[in-house]
Amino acid sequence: MSLLVTLAVWMLCAQVPGGEPPQPGLAAPSALRCEYLADPMGIDVSSPRFSWLVSDPRRGARQSGYQVVVHREDAAAGEPVWDSGKVAGEEGCNIAFAGRALESGRAYTWKVRTWDADDRASEWSEPAHFSMGLLAPADWKCAWVGLPAPPEPGVRGPATMLRARFTLGGLGARRATLYATALGLYECRLNGRRIGDRVLAPEWTDYRTRIQYQTYDVTPLLTQGENVLGAVLADGWYAGKVGLFKRETYGRDLALRAQLQVELADGSMQVVVFDGSWRATSGGPWLAADILDGVRYDGRRQMSGWDRPGFDDSAWIAPQIFQPPAAALVAQMNDPVRVTGSMRPVALTRPKAGEYVFDLGQNMTGWVRLLASGPAGAPVTLQYAEALNPDGTVYTANLRGAAQRDTFILAGRPSEMVEPAFTYHGFRYVQVSGLGTPPVLDDVVGRVVHSDLPPGGTFECSDAMLNKLMSNIVWTHLANMQSTPTDCPQRDERLGWMGDAQVFAQAACFNRDMASFFTKWLADVRDAQSPDGAYPDFAPNPVVSTGKFMSVPAWGDAGVIVPWRIYQNYADLRLLQTHFESARRWVDSIQSRNPDLVWHAARGNDYNDWLNGDTLKLDDWPRKGAEIPRDVFATAFFEHSTRLVSRMAHAIGREDDAAKYTRLADDIRRVFQEKFCTPDGTVEGDTQAGYALALHFDLLPQALRPAAVAKLVQAVHRYNDHVATGFISTVPMMEELVRAGHADLAYTLLLNRTIPSWGYMIDQGATTVWERWDGYVAGRGFQDPGMNSLAHYAIGSVGEWMYRHILGINPDDEHPGYRHFEVRPVLHPSLTWARGSLRTIRGEIRVDWVVAEGQFRLGLTVPPGTSARVVLPSGDPTHLTEGGRPAAESPGVHVVSAGSSEVVLDVTSGRFDFETPAPSVH
Ligand code: BGC
Repeated sequence: MSLLVTLAVWMLCAQVPGGEPPQPGLAAPSALRCEYLADPMGIDVSSPRFSWLVSDPRRGARQSGYQVVVHREDAAAGEPVWDSGKVAGEEGCNIAFAGRALESGRAYTWKVRTWDADDRASEWSEPAHFSMGLLAPADWKCAWVGLPAPPEPGVRGPATMLRARFTLGGLGARRATLYATALGLYECRLNGRRIGDRVLAPEWTDYRTRIQYQTYDVTPLLTQGENVLGAVLADGWYAGKVGLFKRETYGRDLALRAQLQVELADGSMQVVVFDGSWRATSGGPWLAADILDGVRYDGRRQMSGWDRPGFDDSAWIAPQIFQPPAAALVAQMNDPVRVTGSMRPVALTRPKAGEYVFDLGQNMTGWVRLLASGPAGAPVTLQYAEALNPDGTVYTANLRGAAQRDTFILAGRPSEMVEPAFTYHGFRYVQVSGLGTPPVLDDVVGRVVHSDLPPGGTFECSDAMLNKLMSNIVWTHLANMQSTPTDCPQRDERLGWMGDAQVFAQAACFNRDMASFFTKWLADVRDAQSPDGAYPDFAPNPVVSTGKFMSVPAWGDAGVIVPWRIYQNYADLRLLQTHFESARRWVDSIQSRNPDLVWHAARGNDYNDWLNGDTLKLDDWPRKGAEIPRDVFATAFFEHSTRLVSRMAHAIGREDDAAKYTRLADDIRRVFQEKFCTPDGTVEGDTQAGYALALHFDLLPQALRPAAVAKLVQAVHRYNDHVATGFISTVPMMEELVRAGHADLAYTLLLNRTIPSWGYMIDQGATTVWERWDGYVAGRGFQDPGMNSLAHYAIGSVGEWMYRHILGINPDDEHPGYRHFEVRPVLHPSLTWARGSLRTIRGEIRVDWVVAEGQFRLGLTVPPGTSARVVLPSGDPTHLTEGGRPAAESPGVHVVSAGSSEVVLDVTSGRFDFETPAPSVH
């Protein structure tokens, strides 16, 4: 570089404010998150945590330091509220704010830069944003308003509509924020436009304890002069039908609380309190709206312009002001429920005169939008269902008491677009009746509705059935993410069943970013814990006060297993700190009732290994022999939860507790061995499930493991190499077969097409995962409609196995949040390639492998600041290259060992391309 150029560069750098010259080539951090969310509005944690990704593709790239700067948004150029300064450290996730107190209702902007291993600074990131919610109860200035429910219990009136006029004058609004929540569900509008795109707000919590509020930026919707805020209130979980229970489980009267906060040009805040301005009516078009039953909407009662200035509301009345509920108001910090996509129907049939069935081609959740026409007053009915009867009409028997029916009474316009709200349905088919003219395929659009979870993993391989299985797993997963994790989305149940959630939790974390969703749900779980420490069977638990539905093995244990999963996947220590006492009390509650350490007392409804092989209704299938003895099952979970509690204690530095629960877990394990195991390796009951759990939770002495594995293999052979396991033990069994060197048998179970198997479901046309292995059997038909959901994720937990062993991505418990992980694909002759990825909190892991021309090739991307143990299957471990040279000479690669059929390597971050002769399996 000539002296002149050097001087010019130096002068450029010298002009950069803040000292550090930008380093060309060292890109700014990206994907900034605050409390796991992108630019969240209205959070209520006093020290929010920040995460970012380092963008540096070099081998061995890692962050050596960071600097975070937070400003009030209205003073972006002034004093920061927090400047961390340069902090040495490799961590770029969950860095807690440590500046001046964040103010209620204020908006903030933050940015970050990092330093690399050579101490070179990156560019500053693009600014990211967050705002604080209303932090103190006193910050809520406005009342709860609504109309009282009809006097007869259980009778619900039409939805309440509310409107408030207000005027904005004087100094212009720099920012206007609406805080809103309801007892019931609400949707707000401002000057004729919908506010935000959430549906089913304020989502489901135990409304007696905790009600979430939502925060909206309404600046662009406001006008100078007169404005109108409108709201519709519907029953939702609060007053509508919930799960197995009657209406009005939480309460009867619906009410809205909404407050507008305006930040003026001079930075001062003005609160618009609507109380006296509210007008209300129940004369609107929403005659009924229920989550399980659907809606009844009368288009003739629409009031055009009701949510805009100039509307004559003289027939409306002043609403009632309700006493504030006792529950705490908390900010919603989980990804909202939204319409996330559209589906075009794939077929339209007319099974009966005047009845039209649209096939969306995919079992899904949400509803449809329909273009209808007919005379005023004509009812058009949409019946949603998951399957068809042999005559082509919709099969509704398995919906039990959930009507899943929307009725629209037409206004009589030449064509009317009708669409429900305040409900959701689980369906693939919709049968429409009452149309004036025959419809065409395009008259219906499916609207997909669920918690809008950020992307997680992707999976693809050379086997079409497995790709379909993964698609079915993901659809079933999303169908059951309705602000709480539900068992099913269609029948009158849809509860946050804990056993289902724990067994699916890791598959869920592979599919999507579950951090904020499960953080919210674990608060629901704590809310539903009984004073004596028992966890519920489902959370939220609308009948927690009755003591029913409590304390079931493997269901209650979700209160320990799920937070541990979140810690493993997202390195969330704060969650463990928040949750530890609760988890410990669960284990204590079991111990106090079972002092001999066999969990036989207080097992509630004791579901055991639900829907195991003994529940199948098939010819030529054993009636007995699959079900694990209940004491064995329960005691295995008692040990497992106790062991996890000790590990939680260790992770958060409570070493005394760690030692105490390790001792207890050791004692339970000893008792388990004494009571349930014999010296030949038999686990009482001699079931697939018994061996699976005993092996998976490491309950057996090392010396007995091979014998127990042999018995597990025999137990699988007894069922002609099919699963005889239920919800809880299927994936543990699949995992243990791999761990013990029987991956081929696990693959057999995975690839089976005969019943019971995942392949069988797919061959019957399943587009989601069924509740039962024999949900539908060719020639026999559907299982008992009293319990036969076609969209239950529990046995879809095998998605976890597919990520772990086909792609080969495994979290490492000792290094949570994928700081270190293992990549170990397990090959099988029927698969020639697989590829996929996982967006972890530290960046994206990518894996793609192929067996071709006698070679095994694996491409791997390891995110900056992380490292991996890679175990490669190989036909000739002495021949392994990376990027075309011997692997041992490749930077960032350390060959740990080369056995007869595999090579073990440690790699730094970066992109790697390995190649070795394919193992003999091919
Ligand atoms: C639900 C399950 C749940 C079970 C308890 C069923 O009705 O649908 O998914 O876990 O009850 O055994």
